Amino acid sequence: MRKKIVAGNWKMNTTLQEGIALAKDLKAALAGKTVKCDVVVCTPFISVASVAKEVEGSIIGVGAEDCSAQEKGAYTGEVAANMIASTGAKYVILGHSERRQYHGENNALLIQKLQQALANGLTPIFCVGEVKEERESNTFKSVIEGQMAALYTLSAADFAKCVVAYEPVWAIGTGLTATSEQAQEVHAFIRKSIADHYDAKVAEETSILYGGSCKGSNAPELFAQPDIDGGLIGGAALKADTFMPIIEAWK
Ligand code: 13P
Repeated sequence: MRKKIVAGNWKMNTTLQEGIALAKDLKAALAGKTVKCDVVVCTPFISVASVAKEVEGSIIGVGAEDCSAQEKGAYTGEVAANMIASTGAKYVILGHSERRQYHGENNALLIQKLQQALANGLTPIFCVGEVKEERESNTFKSVIEGQMAALYTLSAADFAKCVVAYEPVWAIGTGLTATSEQAQEVHAFIRKSIADHYDAKVAEETSILYGGSCKGSNAPELFAQPDIDGGLIGGAALKADTFMPIIEAWK
């Protein structure tokens, strides 16, 4: 059975103190509850170590929002995958549409980042998704296939360590969610593509998360789809009160 996962992406929000407070709130909200999914928070670099310490021993997993494509050395301002792993964090978001858009991240770079993450025992949460024009021109499947190509450079054993997140760019932070049918169609397409590149077993075991204006009110319907294995949550992950109902959508 593939893993169900609800992961927060805090993006460029929360100071160190606010991040620790948010982690504390989430830990308190989860205490004593039985949840039916893995819970992850991906935080700004500045907070990763402190949040990892704060949630140690709880069910909450911690991740970063990016890592360097390089192993170490003279790369001012970059953070290496082994530095992230040294905090106790276990995940790293790679290829988020905001990184692709504002930092020109492409497959060649993302392949290097994937290799760094995997070499350091981090689970990549690899994001794919089309922009509005690509949805409207009905080219979104080839766009997604093109983004998946970075993952397909991995061996089946390494691919199996990755989580995929489908995030239609037009649904991110816009309040416009993909309908559960639209999301399911793409998730099924991605799973079929994985089966074609590896095999049915690898495809069956890959967790594919949905992201884009996911919240407590729409999570139950999205998560009821057969190929949606959880969510990657932006805005609604910034408060325990709005993140918890998404976690609890897994009944
Ligand atoms: P929102 O949930 O704010 O739309 O963001 C989604 C996202 O980009 C998560 O990575």
